[in-house]
Amino acid sequence: MECVLLIGIPASGKSSFYAQHFAATHLRLNLDMLRTRHREAELLATCLRLQQPFVVDNTNVAVAERSRFLVPARAAGFRTVGYYLASKLDECLPRNAGRSGAARVPDVALRDMVRRLELPAMGEGFDALHYVRMADGGFVVEDWRDEVR
Ligand SMILES: Nc1ncnc2c1ncn2[C@@H]1O[C@H](COP(=O)(O)OP(=O)(O)O)[C@@H](O)[C@H]1O
Ligand SMILES: [Mg+2]
Repeated sequence: MECVLLIGIPASGKSSFYAQHFAATHLRLNLDMLRTRHREAELLATCLRLQQPFVVDNTNVAVAERSRFLVPARAAGFRTVGYYLASKLDECLPRNAGRSGAARVPDVALRDMVRRLELPAMGEGFDALHYVRMADGGFVVEDWRDEVR
């Protein structure tokens, strides 16, 4: 069973990556949709109990936010995989500006996320870690290399 964590600032492409790669196989946990950490925890516990593969489609920029999922998922026997989506401000700001309604967040939220971003590391409890970048309307997935990120 697989627990996938997406990591990236707003407009880095997390939800699109989920839609293209995981929608058919993995349940999506998204804090914006679920609204409260309590509801998120209930759904997480259900996925773990049912051995249901899932993707956490949150920004997950801090080690502490990621461990909220990694620790219980590993304890439940899940394989844990992280996908870091390239989070360059000068690329995400215009993509965010191009969105409308609730999908568009204030620029300051992106800047705040970049400040809080702690790059993921295998030692946090990932069985695998990948680097993802956009290309031609799709995504390219590469192996993680600590020394270059
Ligand atoms: N593969 C892609 N190539 C180019 N632009 C993309 C791609 N995927 C998404 N986008 C654009 O980036 C914006 C943010 O994507 P989204 O998946 O909503 O990011 P996030 O969930 O991280 O906020 C979308 O509004 C879309 O216009
Ligand atoms: Mg999203």
